[in-house]
Amino acid sequence: MNVIEARGLRKEFTVRAKAGRFRRTSSVVSAVDGVDLAVERGELLGYLGPNGAGKSTTLKMMTGVLHPTAGDLTVCGYAPVPQRRRLAARIGVVFGQRSGLQWDLPLRDSFTLLRHVHRVPAGEHAAALRRCTDLLDLGSFMDTPVRQLSLGQRMRGELTAALLHSPEVLFLDEPTIGLDVLSKQAVRQFLAELGARGDTTVVLTTHDLADIERLCRRIVVIDHGRVVHDGTLTQLHERYGSQRRVTADFAVPVVPGDVSGLPGVTLESAEAARLVFALDSTAEVGDLIARLVTWGTLRDLSIAEPEIEDVISRLYLSPATSIMS
Ligand SMILES: Nc1ncnc2c1ncn2[C@@H]1O[C@H](COP(=O)(O)OP(=O)(O)O)[C@@H](O)[C@H]1O
Ligand SMILES: [Mg+2]
Repeated sequence: MNVIEARGLRKEFTVRAKAGRFRRTSSVVSAVDGVDLAVERGELLGYLGPNGAGKSTTLKMMTGVLHPTAGDLTVCGYAPVPQRRRLAARIGVVFGQRSGLQWDLPLRDSFTLLRHVHRVPAGEHAAALRRCTDLLDLGSFMDTPVRQLSLGQRMRGELTAALLHSPEVLFLDEPTIGLDVLSKQAVRQFLAELGARGDTTVVLTTHDLADIERLCRRIVVIDHGRVVHDGTLTQLHERYGSQRRVTADFAVPVVPGDVSGLPGVTLESAEAARLVFALDSTAEVGDLIARLVTWGTLRDLSIAEPEIEDVISRLYLSPATSIMS
């Protein structure tokens, strides 16, 4: 049984703009342009794409916030907008812009309010809250008013708020954006455990590749409102040859030697004492380092994992714009 089913899902926005003093023009933006998607129970799906690709708009339709312009959509068997009330009992939502928490109340009181909203039995609520408190380490700020929380603390609170009624599907729109490193780790760890338990379906939008790598077996990439990849991250890497970047800082300026003998390695830039290399999936970092130390004294070396923006831009540049699995 599919928890989410979308067929030919579309959303158009009419945007009006002033053109001169009296005239107004309107244009139509296809934010979501025919998305087909089936998500099974327990899947942890990464929904990604660059800014403006249509990720948030898709999630807003799935959660009943926006009415689709066209297409079929069911979530937990419901049509999201007409059956929004019923759907709300079965899903949890974390959108960056909107909060499920009460700004002026301590976290604890927000959670109690939500217990009444969703009519969760006290025992169940206590158990769910205890689990979230442990996994997300909420203990130290449970009695702090939400407005005084750091972004990372608030996000951990938002996740708890979205999960206290044990929803079947959890929708998360950019849950790690802007978070400090520790909060990011806490959120990822939490989602990993949630995913491992397998009873909650999670749809996660992000443009952070690390989120996806840690968490999602399946990723769907959209661009300009269309699905351009539906499969694993490995398939995406293999197909679009995403690159790692090695930056080497030498003690003194060096003249780079030849790297043609190192498969998959290209010199991207050489500026005084800093050399930057791009490595595709066939490259051996160890071989490159062994070569570098023969050119001079290395002071620092960093390896950057491919940016999702990078992988995605490759995907868009590629002539075959769609692979499905
Ligand atoms: N309420 C709106 N009115 C007009 N255009 C919108 C509205 N919401 C989103 N858009 C446009 O739809 C496109 C997709 O936006 P969005 O779904 O927010 O993308 P993403 O979440 O992937 O960054 C963008 O071009 C955006 O400008
Ligand atoms: Mg968005």
